[in-house]
Amino acid sequence: MPCAQAPVGVFDSGVGGLSVLRPLRQQLPAESFIFFADQAHVPYGPRPLEEVRRFSVGITRFLIDQGAKLIVVACNTASAAALQHLRETFPGMRFVGMEPAVKPAAEQTRTHAVGVLATPATFQGALFASVVERFAQGVSVLPQTLPGLVERIEAGDLDGPEARRIVEAGVRPLVAQGVDTLVLACTHYPFVIPLIEDVAGPGVRVIDPSPAIARQAGRLLAEGERTAATGAAGGLTFVSSGDAAALARMAQRLIGETGEARRAEWDVGGLRLSLTDGWSGRG
Ligand code: DGL
Repeated sequence: MPCAQAPVGVFDSGVGGLSVLRPLRQQLPAESFIFFADQAHVPYGPRPLEEVRRFSVGITRFLIDQGAKLIVVACNTASAAALQHLRETFPGMRFVGMEPAVKPAAEQTRTHAVGVLATPATFQGALFASVVERFAQGVSVLPQTLPGLVERIEAGDLDGPEARRIVEAGVRPLVAQGVDTLVLACTHYPFVIPLIEDVAGPGVRVIDPSPAIARQAGRLLAEGERTAATGAAGGLTFVSSGDAAALARMAQRLIGETGEARRAEWDVGGLRLSLTDGWSGRG
């Protein structure tokens, strides 16, 4: 069983999960983190749920092999496709997943209309239907995808003409329908909050659930008595199935974090990941 000094595993298809890593690092500075970005397969959003589930199982195995004591699925698409399956497949592991923040949005809206920005796969999963059914009585919830925006953010374009065009095409119709609250249900989107706010206008509130997700991770660690000792140094390693050095550069730019960068490769069947640079990960 992993000990209190073991790392917390955090994963996403790409740099989006860094928006969750940021509050995790702020709230849990003594913890060590392994941040895994599946950049060989980004974007996840247009893929079938079954495929995203397969990737999520492979990444979870990899993080468990690195000694992870808790896994944060810092990806709404992977949470929609796989969270329940991961909990069933790895009963000894604790998971924190992303859930569209429809509950706080439904509580805060005055126009009784909220927009949810997410990938197509997130809207297909049972999780979205379930949060709408549980928390949005009397409120209209308008789903909206922003095709191509994840790719723009991966490329480091947070406010260029193409990113703006995509946000305008998605957000303007929601505002025209009276939405006063927008839920960010894709972990890439917090990096374009200034752009979304600019397009939506001052009357619209944007909800980013990542600080709440980090608090939940802290609670689970405390419950399992797995919190790292106060004052421990903490640490951060980036692993990518794509270009690990580019991931580390983006982390520095997007959240001001630096760490060791490692590359992992999927095997031919796409079920197993292994590090390609001889690093054991356990230190
Ligand atoms: N950041 C992810 C999410 O929260 C995945 C986006 C993608 O790869 O399409 O949904």
